[in-house]
Amino acid sequence: MVELPESLRAALEDELSSLAPKRVAALTAALSQRYRSAASNLATSTGSSFVPSPGDVAAYAAYRIPATFAAVAAVLKEVRERLPGWEPRSLLDAGAGPGTVAWAAAAVWPGLAKATLVERESGMIALGRRLAARAASDLVRDATWLQVDLTGSWPDVSPHDLVVLSYVLGEIQPGRAEALVNQLWEMTGGALILVEPGTQSGHARIRQAREWLAGAVIGATVVGATVIAPCPHGGPCPMGADDWCHFAQRVARSRLHRQAKGGELSYEDEKFSYVAVSRPGLPAAPVRARVLRHPQVRSGHIRLELCSATGGLTSEIVTRKDRERFKEARDLRWGSGIQWSEAGW
Ligand SMILES: C[S@@+](CC[C@H](N)C(=O)[O-])C[C@H]1O[C@@H](n2cnc3c(N)ncnc32)[C@H](O)[C@@H]1O
Repeated sequence: MVELPESLRAALEDELSSLAPKRVAALTAALSQRYRSAASNLATSTGSSFVPSPGDVAAYAAYRIPATFAAVAAVLKEVRERLPGWEPRSLLDAGAGPGTVAWAAAAVWPGLAKATLVERESGMIALGRRLAARAASDLVRDATWLQVDLTGSWPDVSPHDLVVLSYVLGEIQPGRAEALVNQLWEMTGGALILVEPGTQSGHARIRQAREWLAGAVIGATVVGATVIAPCPHGGPCPMGADDWCHFAQRVARSRLHRQAKGGELSYEDEKFSYVAVSRPGLPAAPVRARVLRHPQVRSGHIRLELCSATGGLTSEIVTRKDRERFKEARDLRWGSGIQWSEAGW
């Protein structure tokens, strides 16, 4: 279960304190409906804003910040595992919204010293600045905000060690996405991470971007990125046409969040798809397989649905008789990576 940093939770609470809970709930329902209908209309983004009014920005703060924070925090932790010893110093967050990624990254890599947050909407930037003023982290408080349209011309931005595009691709006009992904890769000194909602269309965008990144060729030279997560291999994605690779992160719902969503549950599960790639040469610790579903635990065996390092989808059944592997399999969760070193996997 992921909780927001206390300073972010308190700043959000203050931010929304002037709005009646019923109003926040109505704004949230409208925004959520817009995201849902966009998600079911793959490849139809017109590139226009999802959060045009101050009320939409408030609803975004109440209902999306906790969820995208949780998903991004999970992804960043996985990347830290796959790149042991890598200490990024700079972060570029493209389509930063209210700066959620910087809050999560500051906790995962305390050595991050510089954040550049690129965002088109002034309402989002203003919210991000108000929240950041309350942050304990220097990275978040001192971040540089650039008001830029990602699909237009950028000011001169030097490469950053870590570059993130989180929950943005679906808002980019499809014809502009490849150029944006390639441009972000050029700005990446170490690792580039793309995150999307864990829907079929979100995964389709991630899969497409992964192909652009892993297969990049300039002249006769393959300059493609190294895929480090979640995939245990850099070959074509083996997922069938009617399935999609996604994971889930449980998010604690604050009182405010519960009011905004009009529900009583104390948590929700945020589903997300992602890909992380790194510059070849950065020492990576690949996994031997990734767990793609909740493991099915039975009395005598555990059944695992995996994507394997050889590039295929496999089912593995680990029986209780295989004591070491069974013990390790009991600790695996949906989304876990299985290390090469573990119990003869
Ligand atoms: C769903 S929010 C995600 C915010 C943040 N990255 C996160 O993960 O929480 C998408 C953000 O991308 C921004 N965005 C969408 N298209 C953009 C563009 N062409 N240029 C700059 N920002 C853009 C939106 O204004 C919005 O703030």
